[in-house]
Amino acid sequence: MTVAIEMGHTTAGAPATLDLEELLATRLLVQGNSGSGKSHLLRRLLEQSAPWVQQAILDPEGDFVTLAEQFGHLVIQAEDHTERGLQVAGERARIHRVSTVLNLEGLDAENQMRRAAAFLGGMFDVERDHWYPMLVVVDEAQLFAPAVAGEVSDEARKLSLGAMTNLMCRGRKRGLAGVIATQRLAKLAKNVAAEASNFLMGRTFLDIDMARAADLLGMERRQADAFRDLERGQFMALGPALSRRPLGLRIGATETKPRNATPRLLPLPEATLEDARAIILAAPPPEANRPQRRPAPDLLGQLMAAKSAAPEIRPETLEQQPSAEELAERRERLDRILRAILAEPDAGFRAIGVLYQEFVVRCRIEGLGSAAPDLSEFRRMLTRARAGLGTDIAEDDGWQDVTLRASILPEDMQGVFMMIARAAKQGWPCPGDAAIARAYGSHSLRRAQRLLTYIEEQGLIVCQLDGAGRRIVTLVELAWATAPGDPNADELPAEQDCSSASL
Ligand SMILES: Nc1ncnc2c1ncn2[C@@H]1O[C@H](COP(=O)(O)OP(=O)(O)OP(=O)(O)O)[C@@H](O)[C@H]1O
Ligand SMILES: [Mg+2]
Repeated sequence: MTVAIEMGHTTAGAPATLDLEELLATRLLVQGNSGSGKSHLLRRLLEQSAPWVQQAILDPEGDFVTLAEQFGHLVIQAEDHTERGLQVAGERARIHRVSTVLNLEGLDAENQMRRAAAFLGGMFDVERDHWYPMLVVVDEAQLFAPAVAGEVSDEARKLSLGAMTNLMCRGRKRGLAGVIATQRLAKLAKNVAAEASNFLMGRTFLDIDMARAADLLGMERRQADAFRDLERGQFMALGPALSRRPLGLRIGATETKPRNATPRLLPLPEATLEDARAIILAAPPPEANRPQRRPAPDLLGQLMAAKSAAPEIRPETLEQQPSAEELAERRERLDRILRAILAEPDAGFRAIGVLYQEFVVRCRIEGLGSAAPDLSEFRRMLTRARAGLGTDIAEDDGWQDVTLRASILPEDMQGVFMMIARAAKQGWPCPGDAAIARAYGSHSLRRAQRLLTYIEEQGLIVCQLDGAGRRIVTLVELAWATAPGDPNADELPAEQDCSSASL
């Protein structure tokens, strides 16, 4: 028996079907920018297949809870359960063959990952007797299988990435068919994406995502340009469950609606300014009536609490605005603390959250607790420091231009661009792949090379090799060029090295 799910229509007008049994064996990856229609597509697939197969949906935004009314899914509020509780729930859902929506809305990234991992783990580890086929749909899969470390703890990331890898790589034998959707392929861990043999590619703007999509579909990169012109709800399909050649299709309507429907324009209610003032600026309710968020009892939270309780070493600096010299001195001291942290052997590869905690601790030890930057400022400092840039360079003329150009890149790439810009400005040799990887917080030389290619594709730099295989990078528009540098060089020359304590 084959079950053909109707997803919509091909561009030629024929019904576009998806072979459910084949899907169970070969998994599906959906990619498209925000608003391209991924969640709608998943909903269509879930609704059409609900009569045929058990389902579980990992729902970061609580979009899919509306499936419950019409199709009888059990909605599990992840917020209300422990990891252990969710693991057991995952197991029982399989034993009793109940379709579920795991609503992860309202949790922070760390807890979304942990609880999703627990639930997936339960479904994965169930005993062999219960290995009935089921669809496991994960929307915003990059949240659970991120390509690079984010602000969450290493442990959470490992748990969640492990569960997603199990789902996509080893789930088949256990009857679990992963269906994952992501806005940005480049943000999704490669091993998780690579195991899907069916693809539905929607509208995509960024070159790096188009290139990866083209690679997955086995298309020429030029052809992938077509992904830019897809309309909302239009996808390019390929794979054993869909079509043997890339096939354009338009996803059909759904019976249920997302709970968080796209905001519609509505006429504004009529109200006088005085009414508005009375409503908007009414005294806030007493604190106790507000819904309490359970604080995560982490080191950082405790430190922040201690910070407000304990007097600073130099309370007078809190009272008046610090002068320019004081600010410069403070910045210099913060830089020094950061350099000390980065000088530790493994610092380049630790999660930013961990580095930040350590940074805050050291700031407090130095009596700089109240001057410690927040996490986003810390991220900027870290990016610059990893690229070997002191605070002094920020004031330099011409450097403003570099910062401006860097800002079109994702934040985590900006430091690498600036490191190269600095080498070009000074006429130093182009840094080798190892130094670039380290500035990016990675061990991977191939990632360093891809990073350069990406920055080049954005039109910021041009990379060339000279006759001896040494690399020269020219900054477009600024017309600064590095001296030729060996891509295989192990380390930066001493004068360019940021983590040496001498700087
Ligand atoms: N094929 C379609 N037919 C009709 N409406 C659609 C279709 N696809 C998407 N839409 C509508 O377009 C809007 C955006 O779609 P959707 O929420 O699925 O996008 P998305 O790719 O999941 O975006 P995000 O990544 O931001 O979650 C929704 O209101 C959805 O109902
Ligand atoms: Mg969506």
